[in-house]
Amino acid sequence: MRSHLLNDTTAEHYRRSVTEGVERVAAKLATTDRPFTGVAVDALAPRIEQIDLDKPLRDTTAVLDELEDVYLRDAIYFHHPRYLAHLNCPVVIPAVLGEAVLAAVNSSLDTWDQSAGGTLIERKLIDWTTARIGLGPAADGVFTSGGTQSNLQALLLAREEAKSDSLARLRIFASEVSHFSVKKSAKLLGLGQDAVVSIPVDHDKRMQTLALAHELERCQKDGLIPMAVVATAGTTDFGSIDPLPEIAELCAQFGAWMHVDAAYGCGLLASLRYRDRIDGIERADSVTVDYHKSFFQPVSSSAVLVRDASTLRHATYHAEYLNPRRMVEERIPNQVDKSLQTTRRFDALKLWMTLRTMGADGIGELFDEVCDLAAEGWELLAADPRFDIVVRPSLSTLVFRCIPAAVTDPAEIDRANLYARKALFASGDAVVAGTKVGGRHYLKFTLLNPETTTADISAVLDLIAGHAEQYLGESLDRAC
Ligand SMILES: Cc1ncc(COP(=O)(O)O)c(C=O)c1O
Repeated sequence: MRSHLLNDTTAEHYRRSVTEGVERVAAKLATTDRPFTGVAVDALAPRIEQIDLDKPLRDTTAVLDELEDVYLRDAIYFHHPRYLAHLNCPVVIPAVLGEAVLAAVNSSLDTWDQSAGGTLIERKLIDWTTARIGLGPAADGVFTSGGTQSNLQALLLAREEAKSDSLARLRIFASEVSHFSVKKSAKLLGLGQDAVVSIPVDHDKRMQTLALAHELERCQKDGLIPMAVVATAGTTDFGSIDPLPEIAELCAQFGAWMHVDAAYGCGLLASLRYRDRIDGIERADSVTVDYHKSFFQPVSSSAVLVRDASTLRHATYHAEYLNPRRMVEERIPNQVDKSLQTTRRFDALKLWMTLRTMGADGIGELFDEVCDLAAEGWELLAADPRFDIVVRPSLSTLVFRCIPAAVTDPAEIDRANLYARKALFASGDAVVAGTKVGGRHYLKFTLLNPETTTADISAVLDLIAGHAEQYLGESLDRAC
């Protein structure tokens, strides 16, 4: 069994195993002609169920053959240009190389004595990101597992900085289309049920700042505490960007912590042409960035950044075995003092390899391309009488629904769109997402693949319209 331990004596075994795995995946990627096979749960589940985990196959080739059967064949492939669904990006090769290196070396980013250069590399990337945001000389941050954790940590700091002895009086303001992790964070932070005040959005799905001002005033008048305003720079459903400068003004006026959830919009930090869309982000007290959404990084890769490094102390606990106080005096750097996690992956390495290979401009160029694609997709949809489109994209998302000719019943239109999404998924020809707008079912393209073309968009729209028509045909048959 020791032959499976990665060490000085097994370097050759490691090289062979990993190469065999890489070759399988490379062959798979080269021949994947659809984002999904359309496999049904009922077909896949028994294949996984019947595997006896207490009876190992022992041989790498056999294990990879089995993996082909239970996972690789039917995986959802984000690299395919017709995967248009959620906020998943195709990944860049330097980052995948970073992933392989970090798994093998297996540094843990909590302390210097478990990571050495890893700690310094992470710190340099945090400084790079805070400089791109413009958070100023006292800024800091830490890598996290994702936007959910980044938002949670930011709101933890905001809660502690609010210095209230009554959690029930704290209020967080976020737009009605902000990410659900804001509400989840409020719950985890022990805030009351009414802690998150939902602010309406305008026609472009941006937070209405007049409504925010009104709610902040009301909060003050009621003797409550405006703990934080969460501005979203790239909403999950629409990619809309809240008016950051106006929100910053209101935060300053009411003494509220300004958190910018740029999990999606952070790609603009590297943009060559659209950086101005997130102007005002530099006034935030904290920012969430998900490199695994718009920096083309493999999951996970995210960070929470703060204007004032000292606020990170709210996540600091000392343990004699790990990070005793004397280490601070000895100026030995560690990241665990800033993190909600203890043992932590060296995700930063992926971004490091990316920036050292492609440069920030390389990433920005790719993100600009998907923003341009979305603008072209909007033109296509707006000119197509079969579809109704919700909002002109600020990033790379299109939300629309098929309105089949001669159908006026909104519930029937809902059903046709739900059917079309499901049928498309089952066919594996493309994967699209869905959401609700004004209580009605819509479809969503999140465009994060620069390889997707307007021809792909047109083809998928035709497929959707075809499935919707088929649904209506069948529903007519059922009625007869
Ligand atoms: C705006 C926004 N914030 C936060 C998150 C949560 O990020 P994660 O899935 O990385 O936890 C998402 C995820 O889609 C998001 O769109």
